[in-house]
Amino acid sequence: MAELQTQAGKILSQVAGYVGMRTIDIGLRFGLIAEVAKHPEGISAQGLAENAGVDLFYAQVWLRNAYAAEFIVCDNPLPREDYDPVTRRFSQPDEQKFTLDEHMETLLLDEEHPGYIGGLPGVMLQPEIFEVFADHLKSGEHIWWCDCGPGMIQCVSCTGLPFYTRMVPDGFSKVPGLQAKLDAGARVTELACGAGRGLLAMAKTYPNSRFIGVDGDAFSLELAKERLGAAGMTDRLEVVHSSFEELHVSDQDMVFINISMHECRDIDTVTQNVRNALTPGGMFVISDFPFPESVDQTRSVPGKIMCGIQYFEALIDDQLMPTVGFRELLNRHGFQDIGSFDLSGVHAVTYGSK
Ligand SMILES: C[S@@+](CC[C@H](N)C(=O)[O-])C[C@H]1O[C@@H](n2cnc3c(N)ncnc32)[C@H](O)[C@@H]1O
Repeated sequence: MAELQTQAGKILSQVAGYVGMRTIDIGLRFGLIAEVAKHPEGISAQGLAENAGVDLFYAQVWLRNAYAAEFIVCDNPLPREDYDPVTRRFSQPDEQKFTLDEHMETLLLDEEHPGYIGGLPGVMLQPEIFEVFADHLKSGEHIWWCDCGPGMIQCVSCTGLPFYTRMVPDGFSKVPGLQAKLDAGARVTELACGAGRGLLAMAKTYPNSRFIGVDGDAFSLELAKERLGAAGMTDRLEVVHSSFEELHVSDQDMVFINISMHECRDIDTVTQNVRNALTPGGMFVISDFPFPESVDQTRSVPGKIMCGIQYFEALIDDQLMPTVGFRELLNRHGFQDIGSFDLSGVHAVTYGSK
C-alpha cells in the first residue's frame, strides 16, 4: 500500500511545477530573465530591480522563486537569514549575485535554437487552454481558431517555432531524397502556415524553391503577410485563405504541415487532397506531436505536456494523435516509402511519397 506522504508528494509536485511555470512566465514577460542573462558575472537583486525597472522587494522575491525553480543559481549558498521581520524587507540586496543556470539562456531566450522552450509557459497560460475548457466543460461547446484571441495565436506561433527550427533544414534532410529536391528548386505547399514563421524559414533556406502557405484563419494569415513582407520575402511566396478540406493546389513536389494535421476536420479528405496536389514522387511531410500510444506513457514529462495541449485540442474538437496514426493514414491513401522519426520528446515526423 502506498504511503500517504508519497501520494501527497505526487499532488504537491504538480503545485510546485505550477509555481515554477508562473515564475518563468513572469521572468520572461518582464524581461527579468533577459536581464539576468546579460550578466554572466552575476547580478544582484538591486541591479536587477534597477535595470528591469521593477520594485526591489518584488525582484528579491522573484529571484528566490527562480532559484527554487532551478533555472537561476546564486554565488552565496541559499537560504540565508537576510529577511528582517521588523522592517519586512530583505537586507543586503546587493550582496548576493544571481546568474542563469547552464543552458537556460538557450532554452528560455534563444528563439532560433532548436531546443527553445521559452514559448511553452506563455501558451499554457492562455485562457484558451484551461479557462475556456472549464467554461465549456458542462456544455461540451467547441471553439475554433477564429474564436481565439491574438495572444493565443501569437503564443502558439512561438511554440511552433522550434518545430520549424528542427525541421529546416535538419528534419527535412532526414527524409530520403527531400533535401536534394528542395535545394534544386521545388514547389512546396505548407498547410497550416499560421503566422508564417515556417514559410519564412523555408524560403530563406531553399532559395530555388517556391512556396504556397494555406491556412483557414484570416488573422494568422495577416500576421504571415506582415512577417513575410517585413523580411522582403514575397516574390517566391503566396498565402491562400482556405480550409485543407477544400484545397485547390496542384503540381507540388512537397506538402508540409507543422503541428496541425491532427486538427483536420476531415483527415481522410485532406490526405486525399494532398495526394492529388502532389506530382508523382512528391512527398507529404507531417511534423506533429507524437501523442503517447498508451496511457502509461502519458506519465512522462512530454506526455504530461501533451496532455495539457489536449485541453485545447478538445475545445477545437480533436485530439493529438500517435505517430502510428499518421503512418496508417498515409498507408490508407496509397503513399509509398512511408517512414517516421522523432526529433524530440514532443516532436515526430512522418512522411510518404506519391
Ligand atoms: C496549431 S496552429 C499551427 C500553425 C503553424 N503551423 C505553427 O506551427 O505555428 C494550427 C493552424 O492550422 C489551421 N488549421 C487547422 N485546421 C485547419 C483546416 N482544416 N483548414 C484550414 N486551416 C486549418 C489553423 O487555422 C491554425 O492557424
